[in-house]
Amino acid sequence: MKVKRIVFLLYITGLCLMFVYWYHGSGSLFSRQNTTAARKLKAILPKTTLPESSKSAKQIPRTTERKIKSIWKKSTLPEKSTSTKQIPWTTDNLKPQVLKSAKFEPGNQCAVNLSWPNGRDEWQILDNNITFVYSAFAVPLENQVKIMGIHRIRIRPKRHYVCWFYNDTQNVSQLQTNGTISLLHDHHGRTYGSMMVTCPLKDNYNWNAVAVSISVIDTPLNYMVLHYPEKQIKRNFTICLSVMHSKYSKVLELIETFEFDKALGANHFVLYHRSSAKQSNVVLNHYIKSGELTLLNYTLPIPPKGIHYFGQITAVNDCVYRSRGISRYVLVVDIDEILIPYQFNNWMSMMDNLTASNPNASAFMFRNTFFDTSMPDDIRRFRLGDKATRYKLKKFLKVWREDFIFGYCNRCKTLVMPEWIDKMAIHRTERIKGDHTPLRVNKSVALLHHYRRYGSSQARVFNAQTRKYSGIVVGRVIKTYEKLKPCVPDL
Ligand SMILES: *[C@@H]1O[C@H](CO)[C@@H](O)[C@H](O)[C@H]1NC(C)=O
Ligand SMILES: *[C@@H]1O[C@H](CO)[C@@H](O)[C@H](O)[C@H]1NC(C)=O
Ligand SMILES: *[C@@H]1O[C@H](CO)[C@@H](O)[C@H](O)[C@H]1NC(C)=O
Ligand SMILES: *[C@@H]1O[C@H](CO)[C@@H](O)[C@H](O)[C@H]1NC(C)=O
Ligand SMILES: *[C@@H]1O[C@H](CO)[C@@H](O)[C@H](O)[C@H]1NC(C)=O
Ligand SMILES: *[C@@H]1O[C@H](CO)[C@@H](O)[C@H](O)[C@H]1NC(C)=O
Ligand SMILES: *[C@@H]1O[C@H](CO)[C@@H](O)[C@H](O)[C@H]1NC(C)=O
Ligand SMILES: *[C@@H]1O[C@H](CO)[C@@H](O)[C@H](O)[C@H]1NC(C)=O
Ligand SMILES: *[C@@H]1O[C@H](CO)[C@@H](O)[C@H](O)[C@H]1NC(C)=O
Ligand SMILES: *[C@@H]1O[C@H](CO)[C@@H](O)[C@H](O)[C@H]1NC(C)=O
Ligand SMILES: *[C@@H]1O[C@H](CO)[C@@H](O)[C@H](O)[C@H]1NC(C)=O
Repeated sequence: MKVKRIVFLLYITGLCLMFVYWYHGSGSLFSRQNTTAARKLKAILPKTTLPESSKSAKQIPRTTERKIKSIWKKSTLPEKSTSTKQIPWTTDNLKPQVLKSAKFEPGNQCAVNLSWPNGRDEWQILDNNITFVYSAFAVPLENQVKIMGIHRIRIRPKRHYVCWFYNDTQNVSQLQTNGTISLLHDHHGRTYGSMMVTCPLKDNYNWNAVAVSISVIDTPLNYMVLHYPEKQIKRNFTICLSVMHSKYSKVLELIETFEFDKALGANHFVLYHRSSAKQSNVVLNHYIKSGELTLLNYTLPIPPKGIHYFGQITAVNDCVYRSRGISRYVLVVDIDEILIPYQFNNWMSMMDNLTASNPNASAFMFRNTFFDTSMPDDIRRFRLGDKATRYKLKKFLKVWREDFIFGYCNRCKTLVMPEWIDKMAIHRTERIKGDHTPLRVNKSVALLHHYRRYGSSQARVFNAQTRKYSGIVVGRVIKTYEKLKPCVPDL
C-alpha cells in the first residue's frame, strides 16, 4: 500500500513538474511574467492568433524579451485612448530658423547645402497680420492663377484683391486683374486658416511673376514666381511629406520612409521645411543631391499656435499644384505613415487596376490604421529580424496593428491625379474638377500604416504585410545609412 501511495505521489509530482515546465517553457509567450501582467496582455491581445505555434515562441531573442518585460513593468501599454493630439510644441517652433550650413566646405563629405535649390517660394505679406501668401500657380486651361496662402479667419476677406502680372523682361507690372479669396476648410478653430486667391489669367501670355495687393493703389508687399504646369510626365508618384517641424531628428525613420516609398513606386518627394536637427539635414541633403527631393522654405510668419499644424493645408495644395504635368499621381502622407498595397506588389499595378475599373475616379482614399510603436518588437520568423533590430526599422519590427481601422475622411489619406484637383484637404479632396469623383478604396486592397504611440483600440492584430518588401527595403536603408553614418550620430 505504502509503495503504491509513494508511486502515486511521485506520479502526481511528476505531472505537476511537467505542467510547470510546459507552462513556463512554452505555454505562453510571456509565461515568466506575473499573472496579472499576463492577464493584462491577454486582454490586450485577445484571441489574436499568434502567428506561430507555441514552440517557436521560445526563439524570442533575449533583447526582445527584455524589452517586452520592461514595457510590462512600466505598464506603458496604452490605456484606451481617444487622444488625437498633435505632437507637442517646443519653443524652437516660435523662432523662425534660418537654415544655413555653417561648416560648409567643398570636399567635406559631411557638408550640407540646403539653400532651397528648387525655388524661391517663401512666405510673404499680402495684408499685414491678416493675409499672407506663399506661392502662385497658373492654370492655363481655366485662364486662372491660384495663389496659396493663409488668412485671419475672423476677418472677412475683401471683395476684391488685385493680382499684378509681370513680364519676363520688364520688372514692372503690365496688367492687373481682380481676384477673390476662398477660404479652405479644416482651420480647427485657429486664428488663421488656409486660403486660395483666384485671379483671371489674361492675354494668354506667359507672365513670369505675380504679386497680390488689397487694391490698385496699394503697392504689393510680395512677389512670386508664377509656376506653370510641367509639360512632360517624368514621375509616377510624387510624395507630399507636408511640414517638417520641431527640429525633426529621426534619421533612420526618415531614410526608412524614403526608401520604402521608393520601393513601392515613389519617384520624388516634396517637403516643406520649418525646422530640423543637424543630423536630419544630412539626410535631406543626400536626397536633394540625388534629385529625389524638393525642399521648400516654409517658415511661417505667424506663431505656430495661430494655425493648425503649421499651415499644412496650404502646403498640401501647393504640392498638388506643383506636381501638375510632371507626376501621374500625388500622395499626401506624413513621415510616419506608409501606404501598403495588399493585393499588388507596388502602387503602380494597384493604380492600374483601380483606374481601369473606375475610369472617372481621380482621387483615391485609403483607410488608416495604427501600429502602436510602444508594442514590443516582434521578429519571430523574420529572416532579417536581426538587421531590422539593429537599425531600428520600425516598419518591420512593429507588426501588431491596432484592431481598429479608421473610416474614410477620418485620418485616411488620399492619392490624387493632380490635374483634376481644384482644392485639396488633408484627409480628402475638397473639390475635384469636372465629373470626376473620389473613390473609397476597399481596405483589402491597401491600408495606410501609421506608426505612432497613441492607441485607437487595445486589441492587436498581427500584420506583417510590410515584410513582403523587406528584401528590398532593409538592404537599401542600411546602405544609405552606412553611407551617411560618418556625418550622423550613432544609432
Ligand atoms: C504583478 O504585476 C502587477 C501589474 O503589472 C503589479 O501591480 C504586481 O505588483 C505584480 N506582482 C508581483 C508579485 O510582481
Ligand atoms: C548651395 O546650393 C545653391 C543652390 O543649389 C547654390 O547656388 C550654392 O552655390 C550652393 N552653395 C555652396 C556653398 O556650394
Ligand atoms: C525662409 O523664408 C523666410 C521668409 O518667410 C525668410 O525670412 C528666410 O530668410 C528664408 N530662409 C532662407 C534660408 O532662405
Ligand atoms: C501684428 O500683430 C502683432 C501681434 O498680434 C502686433 O504686435 C503687431 O503690432 C501687429 N502689426 C501690425 C502692423 O498691425
Ligand atoms: C513683354 O516684354 C516684351 C519685351 O519688352 C514685349 O515685346 C512683350 O510684348 C511684352 N509682353 C506683354 C504681354 O506685355
Ligand atoms: C522685381 O521687383 C520685385 C519688387 O517689386 C523684386 O522683389 C524682384 O526681386 C524683382 N525681380 C527681378 C528679377 O529683378
Ligand atoms: C476691380 O475691382 C474694382 C473695385 O471693385 C473695380 O473698380 C474695377 O473695375 C475692377 N476691375 C476689373 C478689371 O474688373
Ligand atoms: C512608371 O511606371 C511604369 C510602369 O507602369 C514604368 O515602366 C516606368 O518606368 C515608371 N516610371 C518611373 C519614372 O519610375
Ligand atoms: C483588379 O484586381 C482584382 C483583384 O486582384 C481583380 O479581380 C480584377 O479583375 C482587377 N481588375 C482589373 C480591371 O484589372
Ligand atoms: C464618366 O464620365 C463620363 C463623362 O466624362 C460619363 O459619360 C460616364 O457616364 C462616367 N462614367 C461613370 C462610371 O460615372
Ligand atoms: C471589400 O473587399 C472584400 C474582399 O474582397 C469584400 O468582401 C467586401 O465586401 C468589400 N467591401 C466593400 C465595402 O466593397
